[in-house]
Amino acid sequence: MSRLRALITAGPTREHLDPVRYLSNGSSGKMGLEIASALKKSGCDVSLILGPGVEPFQGIACDRVISAVDMLKAVSKKFGSSDLFVSCAAVSDFRPKTISRKKIKKGSGGLMLELVPNPDILFLMGKRKKNQFVVGFALEDADGARRAEKKLRDKHCDMIVLNGPETIDSQKINPVILCADGTRLKLGKISKKVFAEKLCREILKRAVRK
Ligand code: CTP
Repeated sequence: MSRLRALITAGPTREHLDPVRYLSNGSSGKMGLEIASALKKSGCDVSLILGPGVEPFQGIACDRVISAVDMLKAVSKKFGSSDLFVSCAAVSDFRPKTISRKKIKKGSGGLMLELVPNPDILFLMGKRKKNQFVVGFALEDADGARRAEKKLRDKHCDMIVLNGPETIDSQKINPVILCADGTRLKLGKISKKVFAEKLCREILKRAVRK
């Protein structure tokens, strides 16, 4: 039997305003790397789309991207031939409207930056899915359960992982898995590696080969 093909995004994106400066966030990429590794160990064919500044684990091939638009292009290419998609990347929601080709000089006053929204990769793949099992993350600092439920529905996910801002750049996570079938799994504070193994088991119970 052929193996399940898993597509995973991990790490931050960088949204350049000039050749040396960018907007980004503190994502370490660790959660996505652990998920890619757990899915690989479980026998999946893994494609990892990895943001900048994150070292991939040995033995896991990845496509490197910088910005959200790059990440969308890389994901779009592979989504159609995937059986499951885990959107773990901390994608920047905004990017500068224009990128200066030259380093912006400081001048004497302040600087106004005009930002435009980035594409929501998870939402776009959720809309496009056929048989793919789609997993998102919801990083919430308040009203987590309600907001995660809303993201699960709005982004057409089959499963979403609710977690808090303290997860960023940490070895641990305190996650709740919410499934579209109504299942709720509260796991307590655990290492990202152990969580990745548990999440992988939950995904593989539900994902189907096309
Ligand atoms: N995501 C994405 N593309 C974006 C923003 C988010 O694919 N432009 C994905 C993330 O990978 C994650 C999920 O959407 O799986 C939720 O991300 P989160 O940061 O919690 O929420 P946002 O949709 O960005 O909304 P908000 O920041 O307003 O809570």
